[in-house]
Amino acid sequence: MDKRIFVTQPSLPPLSEFVASLQKIWDSKVLTNGGEFHQELEKALCQYLGVKYISLFNNGTIALLTALQALNIKGEVITTPYSFVATTHSLLWNGLTPVFVDIDPETLNLDPRKIEAAITDKTTAIMPVHCYGRPCDVERIGQIAKQNGLKVIYDAAHAFGVQVGGESLLNFGDLSALSFHATKVFNTFEGGAIISNTPEMKQRIDHLKNFGFTDEVTVVEAGINGKMSEVNAALGLLQLSRMDQNLKERLEIATRYRSGLSAVKGIRIPTLDEGVVGNDSYFPIFVENDFYLDRDALYERLKAQNIYSRRYFYPLISDFPMYKDLPSASKANLSVAANAASQVLCLPIYPGLTTAEQDRVINAILPQ
Ligand SMILES: Cc1ncc(COP(=O)(O)O)c(C=O)c1O
Repeated sequence: MDKRIFVTQPSLPPLSEFVASLQKIWDSKVLTNGGEFHQELEKALCQYLGVKYISLFNNGTIALLTALQALNIKGEVITTPYSFVATTHSLLWNGLTPVFVDIDPETLNLDPRKIEAAITDKTTAIMPVHCYGRPCDVERIGQIAKQNGLKVIYDAAHAFGVQVGGESLLNFGDLSALSFHATKVFNTFEGGAIISNTPEMKQRIDHLKNFGFTDEVTVVEAGINGKMSEVNAALGLLQLSRMDQNLKERLEIATRYRSGLSAVKGIRIPTLDEGVVGNDSYFPIFVENDFYLDRDALYERLKAQNIYSRRYFYPLISDFPMYKDLPSASKANLSVAANAASQVLCLPIYPGLTTAEQDRVINAILPQ
C-alpha cells in the first residue's frame, strides 16, 4: 500500500535551530509573561504582515474570545455557519447570540447582500471569517457596519499573509484574530494573535490577556490567561524566516492541482479575484452533480488509496446541537452554505508534499 498522505503536515525548522533557542530560554529562565522572544516575534510579525499592532496569544480561540471582550460586544452577532466551530463558540462563551447569515457561492464567506436583513435592534457586531484565507468583501462589510453602528471582528485564522490590493487583509475591520495552530500556514505549535489599529486598543488587549493586570497591584477587569509562552514565540521566529519559501511551495502545489484538475467535468475549483495575494492554506474542490461520484464516495475512494482529504466545513456549525434550534440555523436560511458543505473536499497541501504525491492525489480523482 502506498504511503499515507494527510490533508496537512506541520512545517518545522531544523531541530538544532530550535534547541539553540531553547538553550537561551534555559539560560534566561524567562519562560513567559512577555519575554524577549515574545517581544521580538511581535515586532517581526508586524513587519512581515504589514500591520500596526499585534498581541500574541496562546491560541486562536482565546484570541477570538478576547477580541469580543475588548470591544464590549453584547446581544446578537452576525456570523457564518461555514467555518470551524471555534468561530461561533467564541460568541457563546461571551453570552452572545449568533445570528447565521448565508454565504456567497464564490467567496464562500458571509454574503454581504444578506447581512442587512439579519440586523435587529440587538445586533452589535459582525464576525465574518476569511474562509480558506479567501478574502471577505471587506469594503461592503465595512460600509454596512458603519451605516448600522456595528463592530467588525474578523476571524482571520486562515488568513496569515493574505493581501488585497497590496495591503494586508488583516488591516480591515475593528480587530482580526489569527490562529497559529499546528495545522495553520504559520504555526507556533499552538498560538494566535489579535491585530489592532491603535496603541490604546493593543494595550487594552494586552491587559485582558494577562488577567486584567495593568501593573503589579492593579487589576482593572476580569481578564483571562491568553499569554503566549517564550517557547512558542521562539519557534515562531524560526518559522517566520521560512515563510516565503513555504508559501512558494504551497503555490506550486496549488498550481499543479489546478492544471491537473481544472478540466475535469464536475470538479469546481474556486479562484481568487485579481489583486489578491493568497496563502494556499487549503485547497478546496467542489464535487458537483455532474462528477462521476458524489463527494462522500470520492472521499472514501481517496481514503482507500491512503489519501486523507477532509470535508472542511461539513457539517455546518448551524447543524451542531448547541446551534441547530436558533431561528437563523434553518436550512432554508442557509441553502448556499448547505450546498457547499455537501460538495467540498480539501485536498492535501503542505510544504514537502512531493510532486509524485500530488500526482497520486490527482490520479485518484480523475475518472477511471
Ligand atoms: C476559522 C477558525 N477559527 C478559529 C480557529 C481556532 O484556532 P485555535 O485552534 O488556534 O484555537 C480555527 C482553527 O483551529 C479556525 O480554523
